[in-house]
Amino acid sequence: MADERAVSVSLLPELASPARLKDAVAVVIDVLRATTTIIHALAAGCNCVRPCLEVEEARSLADQMRAGRVLLAGERGGLPIDGFDMGNSPRRFIPRICRDVTLVLTTTNGTRAVLRCVPAARTMVAGFANYSAICEQLRHEKRPVCIVCAGTDGDVTLEDTLLAGALVDYLHDLGPVTLNDGARLAWDCFETHGRCLHAALELSQGGQALTRIGCSEDIETAAQVDTFALVPELRSAPTRIEVGAAGIVKHYWTKG
Ligand code: MLT
Repeated sequence: MADERAVSVSLLPELASPARLKDAVAVVIDVLRATTTIIHALAAGCNCVRPCLEVEEARSLADQMRAGRVLLAGERGGLPIDGFDMGNSPRRFIPRICRDVTLVLTTTNGTRAVLRCVPAARTMVAGFANYSAICEQLRHEKRPVCIVCAGTDGDVTLEDTLLAGALVDYLHDLGPVTLNDGARLAWDCFETHGRCLHAALELSQGGQALTRIGCSEDIETAAQVDTFALVPELRSAPTRIEVGAAGIVKHYWTKG
C-alpha cells in the first residue's frame, strides 16, 4: 500500500546497503556499549562525539585538538586502549569529566556501524537509555526507517536485535508498515525477551564478555530504559555526533 512506511532492520551493518540508507532515516544501535556510551557522554555535557574507525586515526585527531578540550576514549577487545583517557564504560562519562569537551571515540563495532550510516538522510543514535526519545522522533518522521545493528565482529547480537525489535513494535503500533525479515526477527526477539531486559543482556555473548572483564555494571547501565530524553544525531563536515533533539518525552516502553 502506498502509505505504508518501510521499516527495515539490518542485523549487521554490512546488511545496510548505501541504496537502502539513502533517503531513509537510520537508527544505529550498539547497546553494549558504544551507542549507550555516546548517549551518556552527550548527556554529561560533551559538545560532540567524533567517531573513528581506527586507533591511530583517533589518536591523531585528538592530538590536533586543544589539550583540556578533548577526551580520547574507546576499546579493543572491550578493554581501554593504551594511552587513551577512558575506555568505553558509559557510567564513567560524567559531567565533571565531559563538560564542554569533544569526545574522540573508537570502538570495535559501534563506531564502525555509526559510520556505515553516513549515506542516510538522517542518522540517530539509539540505546535503551533513550528509547522513548527515539520513538518520539520517529513519530514525526515520514521517511523509510532503516535500523542498523552493530553486532559483534560479524555476529548478530541479542541486545541490539532486542532494541531494534522494540522500535519495530512501536512503529507497528503507530501506523501501517512494511517490514523486512530482519524487522520481523527483531520483533520476535523483543516479544520473547522484552520483559527481562537485564537478564537478556547478561545472557548475550556481549554481556558475558563484559562480565568476564569485570564490567557487569555496564550491562545494568545499558539495560536501563529512558535514562535520558536526548537524541544524538550524526552530522557532516566534520563527521560528528551532536545532540539533535532533547526534552521531556512521553514514555513509550510497553514491557513491564
Ligand atoms: C563495540 O563497539 O564493539 C562495543 O561497544 C564493544 C565494547 O564496548 O566492549
